[in-house]
Amino acid sequence: MGKTIIISNRLPVKIYKNNGEFELKQSEGGLATGLGAIYRQADNIWIGWPGMEVHTNESKEEIAKRLAEINLRPVFLTQEDINCYYEGFSNEVMWPICHYHPTYAKFDPAYWQSYQEVNAKFRDAVLQIVEPDDIIWIHDYQLLLLPGLIRAVHPDITIGFFQHIPFPSSEIFRLIPWRIEILENMLGADLIGFHTFDDARHFISSITRLLPVHSVSNVITYNDRPVVVESFPMGIDDKKFESMPGEQSVVDQINELKQSFDGFKMVLSIDRLDYSKGILQRLEAFDLLFQQHPEYIGETILYMIVVPSRDTVPRYKELRDEIDKVVGNINSRYRTLNWSPVHYYYRSVTPDLLSALYSMAEVCLVTPMRDGMNLVSKEYVASRTNNTGVLILSEMAGAAKELIDAIIVNPNNTHEICQAIIQALNMSREEQQQRMKKLRSVVSKFNIRHWVKIYMDRLNEVKHLQESMK
Ligand code: UDP
Ligand code: G6P
Repeated sequence: MGKTIIISNRLPVKIYKNNGEFELKQSEGGLATGLGAIYRQADNIWIGWPGMEVHTNESKEEIAKRLAEINLRPVFLTQEDINCYYEGFSNEVMWPICHYHPTYAKFDPAYWQSYQEVNAKFRDAVLQIVEPDDIIWIHDYQLLLLPGLIRAVHPDITIGFFQHIPFPSSEIFRLIPWRIEILENMLGADLIGFHTFDDARHFISSITRLLPVHSVSNVITYNDRPVVVESFPMGIDDKKFESMPGEQSVVDQINELKQSFDGFKMVLSIDRLDYSKGILQRLEAFDLLFQQHPEYIGETILYMIVVPSRDTVPRYKELRDEIDKVVGNINSRYRTLNWSPVHYYYRSVTPDLLSALYSMAEVCLVTPMRDGMNLVSKEYVASRTNNTGVLILSEMAGAAKELIDAIIVNPNNTHEICQAIIQALNMSREEQQQRMKKLRSVVSKFNIRHWVKIYMDRLNEVKHLQESMK
């Protein structure tokens, strides 16, 4: 068995310039944080974009050298690639379609052209280092053509593909003008994984309706090659989140937070800035809470971290302005001399502060309109080492299929979210512990190591199945 080559649009670290020097920092987002915990085993390699435009060959070489030390290989994108492939096709076509926002999609042929070209760029990066025994593991919606592009050159190589965002109903997916090319190329993989059974089912409906394939249950035969489609709910590095609250640097952060928030009940909300995350609806629920239940004024706070994301895409820019407005509005209406209802931070936070917040918050409020999995909910659970705390979770997050002992809500129902916040704030310690123990056992059993293992074992089985059918 050769090495594993992981490929995703974004590397687990991003490059930025500080006083003229290139520096690295951890990327945000579930794919990078989840897989970032385990990729550095044996001689595995991760190929992806380091997150900024780099102009000179000298800088590219310097960055490549830095990244090689941690098993990473950069694919450099031009400004046009960033505009048309990343912001354009990936985040103005695939993202809104897969998150059930077809009216946000912009089906621009120039975006499609660039998407094909950049997927070919990633193919070339893979071809430079791949050997016949290697396993190629491609991730997410930015690289849907890559399985087919590699398969065309290496007919027998092992290729896994995993989609980290939802796969929509075929009625939505078929709206994409280039749906056939996308599906055909996805089928270049041997094993296609999704977070949930429903995503896998939607994908199978799309291919059976749009392509001349033969399918028996979740085995699809296309061009005489069997391809398996299955769900593999992604886990987290539970041990890391469990141990962090005991570290001195996190304890210091907790003590600092206590100085500001002691005596208040903290409801925590953490997301990238994204319309799929239901941030405005969550704020609306808080507004309703203070409006209808003034007893929570001066008692409860919403600590809201919104991590900047894709801020050059128009929908994201608009959402940021809207959040600013709504937060300002709530704060100005309910603030008292020594209390503010919403503590809003538009920035990313350090791992220590993240862990301290997970430890401090009585309630974690996770209410996406759609989410492939949502790792924040699992990280909160793993961090609650004394088994207290309450998770409120949207039924539209992949994680809701596993974390059934959370308070599950419909994110479109503001009244229901408001009631869930009240239920959470008043839940007895006994009930909190009963629920949290069950949640913690799920998160620790189905952790990231388990996810990688079951995916890789299955990929191996699929290769054997293919051999036996030759
Ligand atoms: N996260 C981060 N920096 C922050 C806040 C959050 O790296 O300042 C991480 C968080 O720990 C989680 C990831 O970003 O692992 C978000 O993943 P999730 O699956 O919840 O949502 P996604 O952003 O992938 O849609
Ligand atoms: C989600 C996607 C990832 C993506 C991440 C951050 O987790 O599934 O593929 O990397 O969001 O988004 P960005 O556009 O900054 O890479």
